[in-house]
Amino acid sequence: MAANKSILILAGDGIGPEVMVQVRRVIDWFDKRREVTFEVAEGLVGGAAYDAHGTPLTDETLADAMACDAVLFGAVGGPKYDDAPRALRPEMGLLRLRKELDLFANLRPAIAFESLLDASSLKPEVIRGLDLLIVRESTSGVYFGEPRGIETMPDGSRQAVDTQFYTDAEITRVAAAAFDLARQRRGKVTSAEKANVMETGVLWREEVTKLHADSYADVELEHMYADNCAMQLVRAPTQFDVILADNLFGDILSDCAAMLTGSLGMLPSATLGAADDSGRRRALYEPVHGSAPDIAGTGAANPLACLLSFAMLLRFSFDLEEDAKLIENSVANVLNSGIRTADIMGANSSRVSTGVMGDAILRELDKQAA
Ligand code: IPM
Ligand code: MG
Repeated sequence: MAANKSILILAGDGIGPEVMVQVRRVIDWFDKRREVTFEVAEGLVGGAAYDAHGTPLTDETLADAMACDAVLFGAVGGPKYDDAPRALRPEMGLLRLRKELDLFANLRPAIAFESLLDASSLKPEVIRGLDLLIVRESTSGVYFGEPRGIETMPDGSRQAVDTQFYTDAEITRVAAAAFDLARQRRGKVTSAEKANVMETGVLWREEVTKLHADSYADVELEHMYADNCAMQLVRAPTQFDVILADNLFGDILSDCAAMLTGSLGMLPSATLGAADDSGRRRALYEPVHGSAPDIAGTGAANPLACLLSFAMLLRFSFDLEEDAKLIENSVANVLNSGIRTADIMGANSSRVSTGVMGDAILRELDKQAA
């Protein structure tokens, strides 16, 4: 029997808890049916934590996240918290986790499932075969740079400032992650920045170029302005393998890439820290979709992105490639059978609820493991 692996589940707000219920069923299935066993704890984050404790992330939950092997995260936020002070908004729970756990490499794959080609807003021939990975820096940049704030001037007018900030070390470590991942894929990195207008862009380009020459000359490197990259993503997305970007550009480009595939409801992500001497790294896994307050509680949410995030957890944190594949194959087979949640409906498919999608996945897992 493999040693227990500890997972902290932070389901959060909106559809987060609903999709997580289905993922819990799959975790229990693995516990019973496979070699590995899990020790699962749950905690509150985002609006749920704010309602209970007046903060989107308590120090206790942060300590639990530090101590566990991997965090599985749902989604945070909702209109109810629009007027909360910025420091207490649900999103700050997630940002604090990224920052305090030093999770600097945010991996966001965008893969076009053949059976979902018609769910995309782009033509099928444009996205067929799409398999790209965005590596987004996630602990620095304009998200955390100081000074920041809104100031009222003596004449009563107001001004706001945010600071885009990067050190060479912050750029190099996330670039190294992108090059390492490219080596396991098709060997190409496109680094996106705005070196034409931003100092951080100039430093970004210089550091990536230097690291490439020093340690990754076997990987193909291309530099692209971030605006052009956004355009290329919708024009000819299959040209990309790994896209490397800073925190803000990565946020925008990854939403764009996600939608190419037809549904945000399909895309998982992983956010990784540095490996320690034993090879263990802190990690958080979350669906790319948000809390979707408009459909929360209706049973319409697609649990597959969260489930695929759990597959990434098995792969990256626990080195359980075969188990990860088991989930990914189950998802592909269920989609091929025409079972769909509302967000990915196509011709000849039948619309099911979050829970019935969970049933279908479990049936498929049984079939594959039989
Ligand atoms: C994301 C989200 C977050 C971000 C929000 C919820 C703070 O958009 O994970 O992409 O901007 O990083
Ligand atoms: Mg985003």
